[in-house]
Amino acid sequence: MNIFVLTGAGVSAESGLGTFRDKDGLWSRFDPMKLATPEAFAHDPDQVHAFYNMRRQNLLSAEPNAAHRALARLEAGLAERGGSLFLCTQNIDDLHERAGAKRVLHMHGELLKARCTACGDTMLWHEDLSVAAPFPSCRHSGGLRPHVVWFGEMPLEMDAIYDALLGANLFVAIGTSGSVYPAAGFVSEARGHGIRTCEINLEPSDNARQFDERRYGEASEVVPVWVEQVLSQKI
Ligand code: OAD
Repeated sequence: MNIFVLTGAGVSAESGLGTFRDKDGLWSRFDPMKLATPEAFAHDPDQVHAFYNMRRQNLLSAEPNAAHRALARLEAGLAERGGSLFLCTQNIDDLHERAGAKRVLHMHGELLKARCTACGDTMLWHEDLSVAAPFPSCRHSGGLRPHVVWFGEMPLEMDAIYDALLGANLFVAIGTSGSVYPAAGFVSEARGHGIRTCEINLEPSDNARQFDERRYGEASEVVPVWVEQVLSQKI
């Protein structure tokens, strides 16, 4: 079986990383238009860097939870059975990788990477970013930004994502509100191609009615149960 899993902030919520749209979520405390757009970065790069520096520090002290670990088991287990997992995440954290996932597509970029706007290269970056920091490979100063996708920018590797989605037997969305496109459109794309769909979330998402199957509860509890059922071929 080939499974396409899309994860969102809900899968990392129990690791202590905030979601965006829940009560007390990041976007209830911070204005995304002032912090997560190219225009905001052009207008006030220090403020944007401070927001992502704070999130990077939080990430460095967070640990993967049982849902991340279960998805890593799913990847290995499907491979042993001749199938595959395509793990696509909207999350910019590295908790899937730290839980053991081998292949993760970060469609909204990665918080632990910096990108030079002059040469376009990226590199691992665990320190605070600042306007003044020079990029080590090209030595250009003043052009460093977090390697993340902002509102108004195109998510990464969309061709590879749609190829994998349309080659899957099952599409599963985990911990995402289904309110940000293009990811929110994957369920209708999958359905349109006759692919079975499943949602795992704390509560029904904006797209809940489009899914064939729905499982609700904390990701750390529901995802491991679902993974064991898939690997024991009860699904
Ligand atoms: P949201 O904050 O919009 O949605 C998180 C979802 O996770 C909600 O539906 C919650 O009910 C659910 N949830 C919360 N805790 C959970 C738990 N313990 N177990 C399971 N589910 C839980 O986050 P995303 O859908 O990921 O983009 O947001 C998508 C994009 O919007 C983000 O990548 C980010 C944001 O703006 C950019 O910054 C460009």
